[in-house]
Amino acid sequence: MSDDYRETGLTFPPGFVIGSATASYQIEGAHDEDGRGPSIWDTFSRTPGKVWNGDTGDVADDHYHRWEADLDLMQQLGLESYRFSIAWPRIQPTGRGPALAEGIAFYSRLVDGLLARGITPIATLYHWDLPQALEDEGGWTVRSTALAFADYARIMGEALGDRIAVWTTLNEPWCSAYLGYGSGAHAPGRTTALGALQAVHHLNLAHGLAIEALREVVTNDPQYSITLNLHVLRAEAGSGESGADALRQIDALANRAFTGPLLHGAYPVDLLADTAGITDWSFVLDGDLERIRQPLDVLGVNYYATTLVRRWDGSSPRLMADGHKDMGGSPWPGADDVEFLPQEGPYTAMGWNIDPSGLYELLLALRDEFPEQPLMITENGAAFDDVVTTDADGTPRVHDPLRVDYLQRHFTAAHRAREAGVDLRGYQVWSLLDNFEWGYGYSKRFGIVRVDYDTQERTPKDSALWLKRLIETRAIPAPDDLAG
Ligand code: FCB
Repeated sequence: MSDDYRETGLTFPPGFVIGSATASYQIEGAHDEDGRGPSIWDTFSRTPGKVWNGDTGDVADDHYHRWEADLDLMQQLGLESYRFSIAWPRIQPTGRGPALAEGIAFYSRLVDGLLARGITPIATLYHWDLPQALEDEGGWTVRSTALAFADYARIMGEALGDRIAVWTTLNEPWCSAYLGYGSGAHAPGRTTALGALQAVHHLNLAHGLAIEALREVVTNDPQYSITLNLHVLRAEAGSGESGADALRQIDALANRAFTGPLLHGAYPVDLLADTAGITDWSFVLDGDLERIRQPLDVLGVNYYATTLVRRWDGSSPRLMADGHKDMGGSPWPGADDVEFLPQEGPYTAMGWNIDPSGLYELLLALRDEFPEQPLMITENGAAFDDVVTTDADGTPRVHDPLRVDYLQRHFTAAHRAREAGVDLRGYQVWSLLDNFEWGYGYSKRFGIVRVDYDTQERTPKDSALWLKRLIETRAIPAPDDLAG
């Protein structure tokens, strides 16, 4: 076993579902078609200074019109599964009221198209595009948004609940709460510590209520899940007890604020104590915790990089290298005396450190804490500054050895975790297509397929051909072993 996680030949059994992931606002475009209402990302991206270059999701990858060709592409790449998200404002333009037939029809066709091509549909109900009308009523800081989400979940369960294999309620509620309402780096761009914590709870509640609603109406036997971006935290070497305590505090905010209620049925006592100066958490009402704790058939894990912390002693300017855009507010309520330290490279184009051992560690830690809980990697991948070249016969190519290397190393980590007894069920690479990377607009390319934003032409990168080879052979290929 080599230490750099660059193994080849390691095999994954049939049933370990390998595919790719996207999200509605990042790829669909068609922002005002067929009755779709505005979401918080439409508003945010139109607000000067919020998104790189003033980019918006108005057109994105035009997937709303090109879905069929995109499905053909997935089939050509041999994907076994496709994780997509449903745009709530396409279904209910104001987040309430009757469903729009056109919105339902779009996702229904998409799911039928996946099934016809033998691709397993993994549907996420919420990947950050909250209807703006609900934000105007308080968004995730108010309870009524969680109740509205349950109604929306029921609508989708009734519409697609005979065909979806895995239902994921929320994508990364950490980002929705702390970046959306704390730091202001994501829509809706609000910056209060209280709002962020209220959002944490109402997102958790929304998850529980949505699962209840889905269970009542679906007719097949799907798996229920939520996707979390759990943070792999490390304390600065030599930082002793104070470093360990900084780690504990960030672990409570980043990880246990979700796994606590979702899987243990309670918010961590230290989280409540650390945030007592901000709120008494009286927005947690009787019965909420029982409803949040739903058996999960699979827990979705998104992993990109690790996080290094220590306690800030105030002697020099505070370091905040936590991988997120600084937009004025804090994504860490009550933790103003924690520093986030730069980490050893190499780095991706996001500036995130590449460390497959973090994925291995995370999966083992989850196994130790929740031994009975099946897991699935619902996102892992990397942005790099790709270069397009042309073969002698004029075929465009994107040789992206750094992305292939990233994937090879992280698939190796996943394999090792399985060997160590982790019940890991699958791996969805982020992302199928280059797309709208939130606050970074179109400047960061995560796709295994290149998108030319002028022509909408799709070009599978070497990483896509490598992944195809992996799926064909069920073994981790050498970096230059690309499918034809
Ligand atoms: C995750 C998001 C996904 C994408 C990747 C790079 O936090 O879920 O939409 O932006 O990061």
